[in-house]
Amino acid sequence: MKNPRHPMFQDHLQTTLASLEARHLRRRLSVSDLATGPLVGFGGQTLHNFASNDYLGLAAHPQVVAAALEATRDFGAGAGSSRLVTGTQRPHREFEEKIAAFKNTAAALVFGSGYASSTGALQALATKDDVILLDKLAHACLVDGARLSGATIRPFHHNDPTHLEHHLQWARQKYARARVFIVTESVFSMDGDLAPLRDVVELKDQYGAVLLLDEAHAVGVLGRGGRGLADQLGLAHRIEVQMGTLGKALGSSGGYIAGSRALIDLLVNRARSFIFSTAPPAANAAAAAAALDLCASPEGDRGRARLRELAALLDPAPPAAIHRVIIGGEEETLQTARRMAQLGFHVPAIRPPTVPAGTSRLRISLSAAHDPEVVRTLSAALRAIVAPATSPNDNPDTVCPVCGAVLLSEKCKVVCRSATCGYRIVFNCSEF
Ligand SMILES: Cc1ncc(COP(=O)(O)O)c(C=O)c1O
Repeated sequence: MKNPRHPMFQDHLQTTLASLEARHLRRRLSVSDLATGPLVGFGGQTLHNFASNDYLGLAAHPQVVAAALEATRDFGAGAGSSRLVTGTQRPHREFEEKIAAFKNTAAALVFGSGYASSTGALQALATKDDVILLDKLAHACLVDGARLSGATIRPFHHNDPTHLEHHLQWARQKYARARVFIVTESVFSMDGDLAPLRDVVELKDQYGAVLLLDEAHAVGVLGRGGRGLADQLGLAHRIEVQMGTLGKALGSSGGYIAGSRALIDLLVNRARSFIFSTAPPAANAAAAAAALDLCASPEGDRGRARLRELAALLDPAPPAAIHRVIIGGEEETLQTARRMAQLGFHVPAIRPPTVPAGTSRLRISLSAAHDPEVVRTLSAALRAIVAPATSPNDNPDTVCPVCGAVLLSEKCKVVCRSATCGYRIVFNCSEF
């Protein structure tokens, strides 16, 4: 027996897992054999990858990989300790200067992840005497950071400025001396929609609140040179705490907070996820710095133009690079994701607690590295598969999503048997 200790504890673990399984909520890890990119390889099966947030296709870009290799050679594989002890290495500081200049803020601070940035910042900035007003669909790291702070938390209806104002009035009346924080995302991670940022910023100023804006899914995708939604709307200079990640369009791993010098100095002194955690490897910061240069360059502009072109192939076209198709139940959503995989697409099934119960969905992330033909086929497959099957005898796993004829699966392709349809998905197997 590999784990002989505490049989009752083992039983508890097994029972909990069985309960998740019965409710179609159990998650499992799949191991891919490929570099992050438009394809993913699970156990010898290659699929078109619509699950990664590598929006500009920079994770495996030669310049980004070269920067990571060089930093690893120069600084070692690990930073060795917390940033405050000996963990701050030149690439961390260089990235911070670069991202602060990019965001047009006085300073910035790198954390081990976007999750650690949000939890660290909210825990450090708000206290039990303060109030945090959170968009109801805000990411788990924002919710967890708000909880860690001990502040009074009030969620407002998703993207609803009227409800936000109602909460601001309530906070001002009930907690006259409290600092009030508004916390939201600019591009919502599981819905792909945009925050009504002008209204949020107006209300913030009107009620003297502080805004923490999570631009994890906007940086690289929206705004001048990929600076995000706040930049696109000309609002960035009015936002006190700008948060982002190195792990999505910047193709690396880590997170950051950008803002005033005093904000960053306070985080260095108070953010527990920064103070009590080993610094991310220098390679991550160096890779993200190289990615940031690419993001702000004409190559980045071409990537964003490509993303817009790809988004227009989906129905309805998403405003950024995330498209969601709500299915409803957990089991149905898993089945639909499996069907998509049989057609050659890795499209993750997103279930509670990531999204509210009854709104399980397929989440599609676009990347500038995707081929428009593949996105066109994906769009047709979604239309056909998500719509009810036309005949009760059709097995949707084996029929063409475009014309309903039989699909033939071969090693490197899936092809429709109909001579006139032309539906086919071909993988470049020679690359692997
Ligand atoms: C909106 C949002 N914020 C923050 C994060 C956390 O970023 P990271 O993956 O770098 O921890 C994510 C990641 O999923 C996200 O979607």
